[in-house]
Amino acid sequence: MSRRIIPLADVSAIPDFSGAAASPSGLVTDTLARPLRDLRISVTDRCNFRCVYCMPREVFDKDYQFLPHAALLSFEEIERLARVFVAHGVEKIRLTGGEPLLRKNIEYLIERLALLRTPDGRPLDLTLTTNGSLLARKARSLRDAGLSRVTVSLDALDDSLFRRMNDADFAVADVLNGIEAAQDAGLTPIKVNMVVKRGTNDQEIVPMARHFKGSGAILRFIEYMDVGASNGWNMSEVLPSAQVVERIDTHFPLEPREAHTAAETAQRWGYRDGGGEIGVISSVTRAFCDSCTRARLSTEGKLYLCLFAVAGHDLRGLIRGGATDEEVATAIARIWQARGDRYSQLRGSASAPSRDDDARRVEMSYIGG
Ligand code: GTP
Ligand code: 5AD
Ligand code: SF4
Ligand code: SF4
Repeated sequence: MSRRIIPLADVSAIPDFSGAAASPSGLVTDTLARPLRDLRISVTDRCNFRCVYCMPREVFDKDYQFLPHAALLSFEEIERLARVFVAHGVEKIRLTGGEPLLRKNIEYLIERLALLRTPDGRPLDLTLTTNGSLLARKARSLRDAGLSRVTVSLDALDDSLFRRMNDADFAVADVLNGIEAAQDAGLTPIKVNMVVKRGTNDQEIVPMARHFKGSGAILRFIEYMDVGASNGWNMSEVLPSAQVVERIDTHFPLEPREAHTAAETAQRWGYRDGGGEIGVISSVTRAFCDSCTRARLSTEGKLYLCLFAVAGHDLRGLIRGGATDEEVATAIARIWQARGDRYSQLRGSASAPSRDDDARRVEMSYIGG
């Protein structure tokens, strides 16, 4: 397979912050009237797993060029940008990767972000997505640093299947220990994300539901997506969420639950016997772009407006070039106000981006899940 290296200098130019402030502070909405509410920050493009659907080993091998340290946003730079995003309406920050727990001293960044307040004085919902491999060791220090909760990825309970899927020989027990440690540390409610690949791990749907039912953790089933350019995605490997619900319902009767917020990615289902709830994330069969309030800040400080974007806006260049906070705020407001992305909704339609763009899409390990 030909090697694909994420372009370090893509087409993005330094964002425009000249002229009158579009909305230097205060809430902003995009061209589809979607507010800016969530910021997902990727703190490293590295991961100790090689999940087949995210970082296939043929592409992410020993010669793969990850970002050099100097390219990464420093914690101070992340905090500074996060502060501006919060002034623009962000209420939830998720740290992602790669694997965010591989970033040295991540607790320090969490401490800083935990001090941020919304314009009306509320703390943020500060969370993190992890593969769980280092969680047993880190849960307590993450909680002490001020993290609110965690989301842990787990694709199977069957150990040999899980090892095949993470392709790095990590055991299910490591992740389950991590989840338990997070529960003990109070990083709750814990969410467990399972990417379902038809023909690979769909036989694990019911065992996973059985395992987490009544545990307090919220298990969510994610439709396998065509994100990035290296996982060889094929629609035949997508199991529609409706079938996930059907399969679980046969064993453990379910009923629909109201959404907590309009911008939620998951549709909620509750066990009729009171055993808690599950969620299904149907980004392929039932796109949720209409309510997408998510901005993504890549490891090297580019702002992406959609998971399927081919280019980002270079905020690192802006701040390293000496822009003031007001200028950064103006640039972010302008970028968001011009946003019209809704890839999942357009997927396969005549107005979808050209197939030429597919090969240029950024990887999930770089932009954050
Ligand atoms: P909670 O606040 O805990 O409910 O988090 P969340 O569901 O917003 O975020 P999480 O990272 O847990 O998202 C779970 C999965 O949903 C991701 O790993 C992606 O597969 C998918 N996902 C999240 N955000 C988006 C998005 O904006 N677009 C698409 N297409 N998929 C998304
Ligand atoms: N489809 C769906 N979700 C994915 N993730 C990574 N790649 C994909 C994909 N192709 C998500 C998973 C994982 C998180 C880090 O990113 O939810 O748990
Ligand atoms: Fe790593 Fe998560 Fe991607 Fe798996 S899905 S390779 S754990 S970043
Ligand atoms: Fe948001 Fe893009 Fe995902 Fe649609 S495809 S929900 S616009 S990130």
